[in-house]
Amino acid sequence: MPETEKNIVWHAHSVSREKREIKNGHKGCVLWYTGLSGSGKSTVANKVEELLSQRNAQTYLLDGDNIRFGLNSDLGFEEKDRRENIRRIGEVAKLFADSGTIVSVAFISPYREDRERARAIVEKSGLVFVEIYVRCDLAVCESRDPKGLYKKARSGEIKNFTGLDAPYEEPVSPELTLESGKAAPGELAEQVLEFLNRKHILL
Ligand code: ADX
Repeated sequence: MPETEKNIVWHAHSVSREKREIKNGHKGCVLWYTGLSGSGKSTVANKVEELLSQRNAQTYLLDGDNIRFGLNSDLGFEEKDRRENIRRIGEVAKLFADSGTIVSVAFISPYREDRERARAIVEKSGLVFVEIYVRCDLAVCESRDPKGLYKKARSGEIKNFTGLDAPYEEPVSPELTLESGKAAPGELAEQVLEFLNRKHILL
C-alpha cells in the first residue's frame, strides 16, 4: 500500500545524523558479512569490533544466530523465511547506521537478491554499505563444524542446510573478500580496518 494511503507522515528530527557522526568521530555505515555457516563471519566481525572499540568507535554487532533468539524468533530456514530474515535485518542495520553506528551484520544471507535489496535500503538513505564476503571452502567449514550442525545436516537431522541441501549464492562484486582459512581472524580484521580508513569512514 502506498504511504499516502496509510496516513503516515515522515518527521524530520532536529538532531541530525551529521551531528551524531561528528560526536562519534566516524560515519555510520553497514559492514555486511556474508558466507557459509562456520566460515568465520561472527569471529571476524567480533575482532573488527574489538579493534574499533579500541578507537572508541560506536559499534554494534547483529549476529544471525543471536537475532533468531529474539526479533526473528518466528523465522525458520525455508527460503521465504531467510528472505524475510534478511529484509528485516537490512532495515535494522539502516537504523543503526543512521544512528551513527558502525554496525556489523553477520548473517549467512545466502541470496544475492536479498543482499542487494539490503544494500539498496542502506544506500538510499545515503549510508555506506560494505559487502564483505568471508570466503571459505565448504570442506573447511565442515571440518571446523563449531556447532556440530554439519554433522546433523549430513545425518538428515537438519534439513535445508546452507551449502548442502540449500543454496549459497556467492557475491559477484563485494567491496571486500576475506580469505578465511588462509589468514588468522585478527589479520582479516585488519583488512577491514584498512578499508574503513581508505574510504574515510573513520574521520
Ligand atoms: S540466513 O541464511 O537466514 O542468513 P542466519 O545467518 O540467520 O541464516 O542463521 C544461520 C545460523 O543458523 C547458522 O550459523 C547456524 O548456526 C544456524 N542454522 C540452523 N539451521 C540452519 C540451516 N538449515 N542452514 C544454515 N544455518 C542454520
